Amino acid sequence: MSGAPDTVPLPSGERILLLGQGTWHIGDHARRRADEIAALRRGLDLGMTVVDTAEMYGSGASEELVGEAIAGRRDEVFLVSKVLPGHADRSGTIAACGDSLRRLGTDRLDLYLLHWRGRIPLEETLEAFIELTESGKIRHWGVSNFDASDMTDLVSIPGGDGVAVNQVLYNLTRRGVEYDLMPWCHRRDIPLMAYSPIEQGRLPHTGALREVARAHDATPAQVMLAWVLRQGAMAIPKAGRVDHVEENRAALDLELTSEDLAALDRAFPPPTGPVPLDVL
Ligand SMILES: NC(=O)c1ccc[n+]([C@@H]2O[C@H](COP(=O)([O-])OP(=O)(O)OC[C@H]3O[C@@H](n4cnc5c(N)ncnc54)[C@H](OP(=O)(O)O)[C@@H]3O)[C@@H](O)[C@H]2O)c1
Repeated sequence: MSGAPDTVPLPSGERILLLGQGTWHIGDHARRRADEIAALRRGLDLGMTVVDTAEMYGSGASEELVGEAIAGRRDEVFLVSKVLPGHADRSGTIAACGDSLRRLGTDRLDLYLLHWRGRIPLEETLEAFIELTESGKIRHWGVSNFDASDMTDLVSIPGGDGVAVNQVLYNLTRRGVEYDLMPWCHRRDIPLMAYSPIEQGRLPHTGALREVARAHDATPAQVMLAWVLRQGAMAIPKAGRVDHVEENRAALDLELTSEDLAALDRAFPPPTGPVPLDVL
């Protein structure tokens, strides 16, 4: 693989696989349902057992499809879902978690994230996360779309340093987090989970990415994924097709050379100063 270990430790010490599966827009179209279920199951067969969903995705349709895909295989999966900021007061979070569990057909989430920071004080969400952890409904909690200043606010709250993951937009074309958020998280051993790691399929048709891919007999998507993993972040590409899942899994075996990394840096320069967090 690309010079990086294929697992990452959570702050608890538990290790999870760096390469997982996203599910935004999975479950949106009835005609794609069978392919999407097959794709998620193939990903599990290949060890991509971190499955990321959210109550927001298709207003619960994605969670329902994930529930169907993992039925009978729950123990293989590291299941992630998210609460919407508008639901994230104490009782709202607990109710939203219950709804997610029901749609997913399970009694527990492995990781529950606040989807983004809203108006509800973080203390309230945290209280609910701690209660859900104590009752065994979630195993870990974390956040998403939190910039360095949000993380600083979070860890200043009692119990806030229990955050297990920050899930943010990160890929070769969106490198702003490298300036401050990523080092901040790495210093505290809080993994970054990169969403949209292949920029939702909007890949450049020419240039360094294509050349690096060609040199390895790989695809640009595989180079994008291998690069994210090489940066020490987890990646959760979404693929609704078995062939895409297989292609993505093979990115774990793609070893980028220092020349590749230098060429990619020239084409997609790292930030030279603070950049506000990109979101989708
Ligand atoms: N926390 C947040 O705010 C947030 C925001 C966005 C996303 N997310 C999470 O992160 C996951 C991934 O992000 P994303 O879905 O936005 O984008 P992405 O994973 O970067 O890209 C998904 C798109 O790429 C295509 N694709 C997948 N594998 C491919 C391959 N090997 N070659 C060419 N195209 C390929 C997919 O097509 P097919 O489906 O046809 O295979 C799909 O259209 C989401 O699904 C979601 O779970 C979280």
